[in-house]
Amino acid sequence: MLTIGVLVSGGGTNLQAIIDGIGNGSIQGTRIGIVISNKPGAFALERAKQNGIRALTISPKDYADPSAYDDAMTGALREAGVSLVVLAGFLVVLSERFVSCFAGRIINIHPSLIPSFCGNGYYGLKVHEQVLKRGVKVTGATVHFVDAGTDTGPIIMQRAVAVKRGDTPETLQKRVMEEAEWVILPAVINAIAQDRIRLEDNIAYVI
Ligand code: GAR
Repeated sequence: MLTIGVLVSGGGTNLQAIIDGIGNGSIQGTRIGIVISNKPGAFALERAKQNGIRALTISPKDYADPSAYDDAMTGALREAGVSLVVLAGFLVVLSERFVSCFAGRIINIHPSLIPSFCGNGYYGLKVHEQVLKRGVKVTGATVHFVDAGTDTGPIIMQRAVAVKRGDTPETLQKRVMEEAEWVILPAVINAIAQDRIRLEDNIAYVI
């Protein structure tokens, strides 16, 4: 059984997609051990509680220095028996120290086709605003392993989504979530639970 820890900051629709995937069998051999938010009021925490999943808030603002925050996070994840950390709309940049504690065991969902529209400052609606501003015709979502950089780790799965005339950042975000994010994040978790991901020369393959 793969125990995952899901880190969130907001509405938690990707968390919901994971909960639903476990419920309907599209994600097998997996349980959510803990949900951690950096924001106390995040609706994602509510979703966790409604589904009987342990949920807590750990905010970097409550810690004197970054390493104390790292210790609180790694402590909570280890105590919950977590062997895969899933960043599902988590908007805190994790330290190198944290990443090395879970090396190769952290994945992130990003709402664009990396390497486009990613890196510092590209998160949430801002990504879709920039996509519309640049006028690209295809966008999408990416699930990747997390390394010490921002959105730089090996890409595991991507799905393309059409940009349509008249889209607003909100309508585009909704389409990217429905057609891409909520599909590929559960699919990657299921593949990891079944040990179907291989890294060769830092390139990830689903087998
Ligand atoms: C999602 O679109 C996710 O891809 C994005 O934040 C949103 C969270 O929504 N993440 C990033 O931008 C990370 N750089 P949710 O809370 O409803 O899952």
